[in-house]
Amino acid sequence: MAPTPVKLSVNGKSYEAKVEPRTTLADCLRHSLGLTGTHVGCEHGVCGACTVILDGAPVRSCLMFAVQAHGAEITTVEGLANGDELSPLQAAFRKHHALQCGFCTPGILTTMHVLLSEEPDADADRIREVLSGNICRCTGYIQIVEAILDARAAYKDDART
Ligand code: FES
Ligand code: FES
Repeated sequence: MAPTPVKLSVNGKSYEAKVEPRTTLADCLRHSLGLTGTHVGCEHGVCGACTVILDGAPVRSCLMFAVQAHGAEITTVEGLANGDELSPLQAAFRKHHALQCGFCTPGILTTMHVLLSEEPDADADRIREVLSGNICRCTGYIQIVEAILDARAAYKDDART
């Protein structure tokens, strides 16, 4: 089948690509658009490494075809920072040493960005509940939860402005 054109808005920038109908959104982001911050682990929806924000919701980009995302607004981990300035959530991860190999980190950051944007008062239990969809083989999660709890203040400030 001939490649299909798709238009995506990613991190505020418009992209056009030609993809096979079977190309996943994850592969399109990584291979067609060069946005390799989105990681691919299990490729069947379990590990959460490939999570991106699509029209405001966290989605597994390995479970979605790129053509299904035609016209969508997508934020990848590359879009969380403000230029060279880390987002408050990213800065908290650095402060709390909340990563080791970093393979899981993009998916955790995008997932938790949506959670804290919607629920800036999320407590540790709620964070762990949502975090259960993201597998980290390195950290044991303690520092991850501490970093997310620490980052809440910035999201509460945003909610007040
Ligand atoms: S690579 Fe998508 S959930 Fe694991
Ligand atoms: S930091 Fe290595 S998998 Fe999470």
